[in-house]
Amino acid sequence: MPARPSPGSLAGALADPFVAIVTGASSGIGEATARRLAREPNTKLVLVARRQDRLDALARDLGGATVVAVDLTTPEAPAEVLAAVARAHGELHLLVNNAGGSWRGGFAETGWENVERHMKLNFEAPVRLTETLLPLLRATAAGRAPAAVVNVSSTSGRVGRPRAGAYSASKFALAGWSDSLAAEESAHGVHVGLVLPGFVATEGFPATELRRHPVLRLIVSKPDKVAEAIVECGLRGKPERYVPRYYWFAAAARILAPRLVRRATSSGTFTTATAKDSQH
Ligand SMILES: NC(=O)c1ccc[n+]([C@@H]2O[C@H](COP(=O)([O-])OP(=O)(O)OC[C@H]3O[C@@H](n4cnc5c(N)ncnc54)[C@H](OP(=O)(O)O)[C@@H]3O)[C@@H](O)[C@H]2O)c1
Repeated sequence: MPARPSPGSLAGALADPFVAIVTGASSGIGEATARRLAREPNTKLVLVARRQDRLDALARDLGGATVVAVDLTTPEAPAEVLAAVARAHGELHLLVNNAGGSWRGGFAETGWENVERHMKLNFEAPVRLTETLLPLLRATAAGRAPAAVVNVSSTSGRVGRPRAGAYSASKFALAGWSDSLAAEESAHGVHVGLVLPGFVATEGFPATELRRHPVLRLIVSKPDKVAEAIVECGLRGKPERYVPRYYWFAAAARILAPRLVRRATSSGTFTTATAKDSQH
């Protein structure tokens, strides 16, 4: 399918070609982001996740893309991604660190083991991938176009909930690290944006409990909305975005009224089941 400018297209403002890596592109927010970016003229996508069949099908649908089927928690993954992008394009304008997941469970029952696997997938993997790709991002930024990293954290990276402590720990870490990296890399022309989704119905985070509720279903958003926020925080240089936007209120309330937020979250109503829960 040929690229066609979309509403809000950045045609003319982007490098030509514009090279972007999206991790976790085989479903949900990553897939929506790949589809959104593909609507910009002459975008060259590098799609990363474990399920090759999904990535191949998406690449076909988008009229072509480089596919890297790899487990990002393995030590060799960052070098594999770098080799693929260097071979195919030799430059990199946007890295979207989106792959992630959550296994719910209380700390007493799931312990360090559960914290560790969240840190490996949601923090260590994006940090190691960024470390490996940073020289290419900087080199690209030193040339004719700015470059950017967008890290997909979560509103859980600002507010904790019962049975999601390990997930929160990894997303808080990603958010804190992103702010520091942004300050360090701006002098090198590499912008770092942070996206903090709230509830977004995807394969991994179906939010079934909330979607069945007559009122709470209204707070569940869609992957397309997050994709647009990723574009804003990557290509348009915004520092951070909550999705939906009003979720910033939860983060502010966490600072201003922690007792109230603890009361609101302690029942577990807002800790929805995830696809990985069955993989404990
Ligand atoms: N949906 C929400 O409510 C929500 C809210 C806040 C934040 N987020 C964050 O948004 C991001 C995307 O989540 P989503 O909702 O789109 O969930 P999703 O549909 O389950 O997508 C997760 C993606 O990550 C990939 N992935 C998982 N483990 C991987 C690994 N070891 N190596 C490589 N890729 C891996 C998956 O692909 P494979 O299985 O093919 O590897 C998949 O493409 C995550 O970081 C999540 O924490 C989601």
